[in-house]
Amino acid sequence: MKYLGTFLMVLYASFVGFAQTLIEVKSPDNRLKLNVSLSLKGEISYGIHLKNTIIIKPSSLGFKLNKPALTLNHFSLVSADTSTHFDTWQPVWGEVKSITNHYKEVKLNLKANPSNVLVKVVFRVFNDGIGFRYEFPEQANFKHFIVADELTQFNLAGNNKTFWIPGDYDTNEYLYNTTKFSEIHALPASNKEKDIALKSVIGDNFVQTPLMMKTPEGIYVNIHEAALVNYPVMHLQADRQNFKLLSHLTPDAVGNKAYLQTPAKTPWRTIIISDKATDILASKTILNLNEPSKIENTSWIKPQKFIGMWWEMHVGKATWEKASGKHGANTENVKKYIDFAADNGFDGVLVEGWNEGWEDWFGNWKEDVFDFVTPYSDYNLDELLAYAKQRGVKIIMHHETSGSAINYERRIDKAYQFLNEKGINTVKTGYVGRIIPRGEHHDSQWMVNHYNRVADKAVEYKIMLEAHESSRPTGLHRTYPNWLANEAARGNEFNNAPTLGLVPEHETILPFTRMMGGPMDYTPGFFRMHLNQFIPERKTRVRTTLAKQLAMYVTMYSPLQMVGDLPENLKVHPDALQFIKDVPVDWDDTKILEAEPGDYITTARKQKGNDDWFVGAVTDENARITKINFDFLDKGAKYQAIIYRDVDNADWEKNPEVYTIEKVIVDSNSILKINLAKGGGCAVSIFKL
Ligand code: NOJ
Ligand code: CA
Repeated sequence: MKYLGTFLMVLYASFVGFAQTLIEVKSPDNRLKLNVSLSLKGEISYGIHLKNTIIIKPSSLGFKLNKPALTLNHFSLVSADTSTHFDTWQPVWGEVKSITNHYKEVKLNLKANPSNVLVKVVFRVFNDGIGFRYEFPEQANFKHFIVADELTQFNLAGNNKTFWIPGDYDTNEYLYNTTKFSEIHALPASNKEKDIALKSVIGDNFVQTPLMMKTPEGIYVNIHEAALVNYPVMHLQADRQNFKLLSHLTPDAVGNKAYLQTPAKTPWRTIIISDKATDILASKTILNLNEPSKIENTSWIKPQKFIGMWWEMHVGKATWEKASGKHGANTENVKKYIDFAADNGFDGVLVEGWNEGWEDWFGNWKEDVFDFVTPYSDYNLDELLAYAKQRGVKIIMHHETSGSAINYERRIDKAYQFLNEKGINTVKTGYVGRIIPRGEHHDSQWMVNHYNRVADKAVEYKIMLEAHESSRPTGLHRTYPNWLANEAARGNEFNNAPTLGLVPEHETILPFTRMMGGPMDYTPGFFRMHLNQFIPERKTRVRTTLAKQLAMYVTMYSPLQMVGDLPENLKVHPDALQFIKDVPVDWDDTKILEAEPGDYITTARKQKGNDDWFVGAVTDENARITKINFDFLDKGAKYQAIIYRDVDNADWEKNPEVYTIEKVIVDSNSILKINLAKGGGCAVSIFKL
């Protein structure tokens, strides 16, 4: 056995119960402690403490394979390698300009008994969390294998407060439920959701990751995965009595989980831990566990703000399909969007419903719907591209696949060549409906590989990408900086869903859950809250104040930010629109000023390449006073702060569209108290004088 490195306490002989502690590794700042043990029978387990508090009790690791039919859960230790890593790297775009990657690593080289299959388990211990993964090295008698189950446990120390959505192989568009761990009930939570197009709920005690929890001692714990490549999405099975979680991989069409060939690696299992909620939001551990950028010359990648020929269809002003006679994406109408984008300095216009196929696109599990290159006859793409160019705006392409990923793959080269020819370099994809290849799920290994293949194609053709209805992100935007965002959760558009819609706390939970894996195209920027503008009987509505819609440009991080509402609604409030015009989409620095999952978030960010700052604060259904301490500003400098806030009688339910705008001079000694209405928020631009 080779034990390297001075930070390891190697406790061969100490017996903890029946388990022998093999290794104890502390985080670089000594606050987190990982223990790895091997029982006398050869079961391997890990546990985690934050200072003296146990967070993860001994949790076993292993695999069940179909072919060869083996269970890999008894091991002997061959050797262990340890190392320390420290570096910094600069993301192409992001919340901060430089990221520190500092961890201690231990790699256990194990031999499974009695099969002799070699397995490595690699742990990385960061200051704010732990990542671990399995590796199957190249070996003579073990080459191709089919995973039946991954047997990774996360044994919680208590009955944590848990923010969860039902485990589901096909959708992550659920509303969040907040209960004690013991009270997770995914089936009723799923049954009450009537507006999700396709559900494949796993069972009453299954939940999705990122799973956010708070222990009874007030410690925040987030479980997710990083670098999901050639493997299915991991859901979690909850043992509600014993507070245990077990990995549950998404099956494929024939019930298998993953097809692997040595040398193979699983994604990293991540556990982010802190006694401060703000640290969870600031964590870069998931990004750090991903591989560096695949793209050398990234000069063509650019964060963007855009509007869409999009919400008109959702609210019933127009349709995607032409046959209805209300086709939105006609040349004349799209010109108005181009003008609006140009007049307000927005980079792009997303055009949905531009292509043939929408008359029969959804619900029939049909393989060949769109060809991605044939515009409707009333949509003159060349004329619009020329017009957009003249006005300094880009058209963003829409590729709805209607779940037929196989059709998209068949046509992708032609579709992306078409984009190159036309000078279009951003694509929104979508996967509404049942997946083809039939029997696959949105979260299965084949589809994970599909999303990644599309990202590779986009690299090849220098295209920036965002996907809707994909599996949720796992930090792969480090590797693919052209992959700007995903939806992969319940977006702002769900305000228009008739049954449940959204709730005001939603935007205080998403950053702690879905957004731990990467940016979200949440589509903020709704100024008209009652969605009955074109269909008077429609009851749907937005559940925020207008000021909160502004705040979300700061609290909901994305390098691709939509300005969601219709131009005619945005024009009603030119003074509020000014904030959206000013707020950047790329940052040099970020400070999470205060946060509590389910209750509130206040974030300050410094614009990339200049000295201006922007603050966003959001609250749930409760009004609150946020106290913003401006000590992040340069000492001695003066700044003009423009505050966009809820007026005193604002209320998401009763009076959502009222706000006020105030200007004050601030410096690093300033503290401002700002009232946030029920379901409200505030946004502040801070320009250096
Ligand atoms: C669902 C997407 O989330 C939405 O943004 C899009 O407009 C429709 N699908 C149509 O593709
Ligand atoms: Ca709350």
